[in-house]
Amino acid sequence: MISAYLKEQTKPLHDALEQKMMVEKIFNKTLSKEDYLKILKVNLSVHKTVEPIIENQLKEDTKNELQFEKRRKLPKLQSDFPISEDFPELSFSLANQQEALGALYVLEGATLGGNVIKKQLLQNPEFQNQSFQYYGIYGEKLSGMWKNFLEVLEQNIGESQKDDALNGAEKTYRLFLNSAESII
Ligand code: HEM
Repeated sequence: MISAYLKEQTKPLHDALEQKMMVEKIFNKTLSKEDYLKILKVNLSVHKTVEPIIENQLKEDTKNELQFEKRRKLPKLQSDFPISEDFPELSFSLANQQEALGALYVLEGATLGGNVIKKQLLQNPEFQNQSFQYYGIYGEKLSGMWKNFLEVLEQNIGESQKDDALNGAEKTYRLFLNSAESII
């Protein structure tokens, strides 16, 4: 299965990013509002760069199968981030649909972690009355959206294309790591 392959191959990148994104503070409920804004900023800078590039590489049929419109996270991030700020253009490219699906694997997988993060933050006194648009984006539909994504991934990535998908996923993780390095 392509998703199992991506998960296994990118585990070190996932775990490194988790650390950079202050996972300990999230779980021991010491994350501050200032920290939270930095995390949002990393996400905003990456999504602003990557979402349009993914969209350009996906075929219309694939976008329909994915319900792509529902997966846009940039508007949610913009509504969570209260400060008007210009974000630097980040250098990023995707060569084909397989790479784009690999990149989307990272952005969609982050919604699984996002759900966990939201639950943790709601137990942190700093965030009692906070509304979260980005974390918890799919609400009750989270597992259905992930299942649908995995189906489209399996249908569109053949055995000989799985390294393109991996390449897209790795590039996306590295962009997150670089952005986190400069912002956090
Ligand atoms: C503090 C930060 C994070 C935590 C605590 C976290 C936690 C998790 C958890 C618990 C899962 C598994 C969910 C499940 O199997 O139901 C998961 C999956 C995943 N997360 Fe994270 N995550 C974090 C950050 C991120 C970030 C920033 C990204 C990417 C930008 C990311 C990408 C992924 C991906 C791609 C998967 C899917 C793995 C797969 O099953 O193939 N995560 N994460």
